[in-house]
Amino acid sequence: MIRWFKPVVFLACLGPLARLGWKAYNHALGANPIEVITHSTGDWTLIFLLVTLAITPIRKLTGQLWLIRFRRMFGLFAFFYVVLHFLTYIWLDKFFDVHEMLTDIAKRKFITVGFTGFVLLIPLAITSTTGWIRRLGGKRWQRLHQLIYFSAMAGVIHYWWLVKKDIHKPLEYAIVLGVLLGYRIIVWAVPKMTANRSRPVSTRRIEVPQE
Ligand code: HEM
Repeated sequence: MIRWFKPVVFLACLGPLARLGWKAYNHALGANPIEVITHSTGDWTLIFLLVTLAITPIRKLTGQLWLIRFRRMFGLFAFFYVVLHFLTYIWLDKFFDVHEMLTDIAKRKFITVGFTGFVLLIPLAITSTTGWIRRLGGKRWQRLHQLIYFSAMAGVIHYWWLVKKDIHKPLEYAIVLGVLLGYRIIVWAVPKMTANRSRPVSTRRIEVPQE
């Protein structure tokens, strides 16, 4: 089933780009096409980051182990859309004016944090192959790929800081991210706490307050 389902999901992930292309072809991007493209690619970057982060909790809670086969694809689509987002910015918005871009990255804090989120995704995209998992070893690879948490946080902060009044949408993204990261904190912390509680009192570390 996965064999035919994968190309379907792949094509569906290209949907947002196809929609933008179709609108551009029909001159239906409105009065400010650059803004529409920037917003759409930014939104889809964040959506794919959150979908990637949702795979592990959904897989563990539902027992649907096959979902793991889609995680890499979703993560790479997050990177694909952030590259388009960044290209829109450097090409259509700034016309490759390096000086203006560097000033923007240094001075406008929402750009600084967005840029950080983008840079954090680069090593993850490069090392997403099975060859790199083997080269780095599972543990180190997993630790490196925890950078996705910080990239998603940077993406949400980037969005939060750029909106002027209505924080509705960034708040929705922040709540979803909070749930996904909260799940991981619980999974990490609960076994440690129960292990400590079930250990005999004599072997537990007891903190003695210093005078
Ligand atoms: C992980 C990285 C990033 C994520 C998740 C992200 C996400 C977003 C989102 C969700 C929006 C708003 C979309 C909307 O209004 O519907 C946005 C807007 C924007 N982003 Fe990003 N972005 C990222 C990186 C970057 C980078 C690297 C740049 C440029 C250096 C950038 C420049 C912009 C600009 C200029 C806007 C529009 C601001 C405005 O309307 O005033 N973003 N981004």
